[in-house]
Amino acid sequence: MNFKDLVRSNEEVAELINASERCLDVMNYTEHGIRHAMYVARVTEKILKKLGYDDTTAELGFIAGYMHDTGNSVNRNFHGHVSAVYAYNILKEMGMSFKDINIVTAAIGNHEEETGTPVNPVSAALIIADKSDAHRTRVTQNYDPNEIHDRVNHAIIKNIVYINPEKRTISGRIYMNSTSSVMEYFEIYLSRISMSERAANLLGCTFKLYINDVLINSPKDIGKRTASKVEAGDQSLD
Ligand SMILES: [Fe+2]
Ligand SMILES: [Fe+2]
Repeated sequence: MNFKDLVRSNEEVAELINASERCLDVMNYTEHGIRHAMYVARVTEKILKKLGYDDTTAELGFIAGYMHDTGNSVNRNFHGHVSAVYAYNILKEMGMSFKDINIVTAAIGNHEEETGTPVNPVSAALIIADKSDAHRTRVTQNYDPNEIHDRVNHAIIKNIVYINPEKRTISGRIYMNSTSSVMEYFEIYLSRISMSERAANLLGCTFKLYINDVLINSPKDIGKRTASKVEAGDQSLD
């Protein structure tokens, strides 16, 4: 059995995810259970595979994505750090190499906007996958129309991440109804968009966000800027 299957079938990991979901549900957070873990795992793996990373890196991406939010079972604050420590111990017990464990834990420990920075390809792919998971299915039964996170998530009826390896673009395409607005989406998710842009740059890509088929952000293809042009202050680059 490979590590991906070992992690996916591990009861301790599943219980940590379920415990996280129970804690966050009490605090009226959006859904953070097995569905979110599997979504982030699959999208992280997909980004890495499509961009040509090897099978091991893609597998580490799946594992990091699946385990990234387990620390919410302890506390929402610094949950990425706690999740990383959990992952370290569990993966060590499974016999994973320390080199691979550290790729996973660095990715998990850097996925939060407040304290994280994309530090390796797995980390960058995980950030994009995690931040892309806004959807009406994440709003629990206790939907509160007076709560902005509920309103925004409830308005999102479709959400897809496209990867174009040739053009080196990663595009988030969101389709919203009028339950909320683009303005409200930005009000709560601006830092996520910025973090996804930085993550895409680490992967040698540009991140583009479309809402209802309109390009919303103004991505800067930092990777293609030359030092001399940036120093010359070429306004046309912006
Ligand atoms: Fe998280
Ligand atoms: Fe998450």
